[in-house]
Amino acid sequence: MEPREFYIEDRLERYRTNAPCNLGESGIRNLNYGELLRRLEILPEEWNDISLEDSPNRGGAKLREEIAKLYPGIGPEEVLITTGTGEALYILFRLLCEPGSSVSYFYPAFQALYEIPKLCGADLHPVSVLSSFLERKTSFLSSNLIGELFREGKDLAIINHPHNPTGLSLDVNAAEAIQRESIRHSGWILFDEHYRFLDYHNELSWTGAGVNSKSVATGSITKCFGVMGLRIGWMIGPASLIEKARSFKDYLTHTVSPISEFLTLKILQKRKELSERILDDLVCNIQYFESIWKELPGLKDFVSPGGGVVSFIPLKKGINSSEYADLLMNQCGVFVLPGRDFEAEGWIRIGFGETPERFREGIDRWKRLRW
Ligand SMILES: Cc1ncc(COP(=O)(O)O)c(C=O)c1O
Repeated sequence: MEPREFYIEDRLERYRTNAPCNLGESGIRNLNYGELLRRLEILPEEWNDISLEDSPNRGGAKLREEIAKLYPGIGPEEVLITTGTGEALYILFRLLCEPGSSVSYFYPAFQALYEIPKLCGADLHPVSVLSSFLERKTSFLSSNLIGELFREGKDLAIINHPHNPTGLSLDVNAAEAIQRESIRHSGWILFDEHYRFLDYHNELSWTGAGVNSKSVATGSITKCFGVMGLRIGWMIGPASLIEKARSFKDYLTHTVSPISEFLTLKILQKRKELSERILDDLVCNIQYFESIWKELPGLKDFVSPGGGVVSFIPLKKGINSSEYADLLMNQCGVFVLPGRDFEAEGWIRIGFGETPERFREGIDRWKRLRW
């Protein structure tokens, strides 16, 4: 069995480098190398000392120690460094799913979260967040949806928070509901926390890692700090599972680049300073969009994201999302993703990760759309 094409990636590949205004991305605008070095205050001698030998298969010890500090009660032996979150997810699904496994996830979703379980023969149980999202006008997950997710995903329940593509996140009530449910749940729980560093409403920056003995989490710095090309991700889980995943990784990328590992360590050590500016710009773009979205043709509603970089926006009745995205790109040079690529027609996904200047330029162009 083959996976279907990865719908969003196809369109991102086509437009991410040549769109005059890219509001389709799910990451913070990428830095160039010089700017990253300046922000991290890296000295040339530190840089010159990096050895170009293979990194250890499980990831460098210092980096794993730094990552473990982000998760209460977790030690470095419970951390595996991977090439992006994508590799961590692939390995986990191959280890945790088998034909007939019941797997639940919040729909719509990042396609890898259900396409790879499907490839492993799992039975999928999508739990739609869309109507509750609009009815409740809040971007925090409700305990009803969380209950449904745990009931449906007997073997594996997947929680992606902050959520791509809706921007749904967890408040204290939702985190408590997950904790309650996880005590009763006998299957695995996977927390995809790819956007955890952009959880701007949740000061606790809650993580699901360690909620019970069968919980795993994935994380990354790439989208949150504007360094997508570093391709570093990780997984957190019980040491026995991490050991199996480490062995599986030998058949895939085997190790990550020592240059990316070095920069990731520096980013994590300076994450508070780096995040301040990133979050200020992000919140500025979201607030601007909140004030202006009614002037943009075709949009029906807007619920401000609870975390992460993106929001899923309903279109007025009868508007086809691909036609809308194509027209916006062709007429105005603004790139957004159609809901169709998330298998949810009638919506579009926009990203708030551009600089405030470029974001405003994108909105000015969008206002000129003749629909
Ligand atoms: C929710 C989610 N998980 C995982 C990934 C994959 O991350 P990476 O690009 O690090 O492989 C993405 C990428 O957009 C994502 O949105």
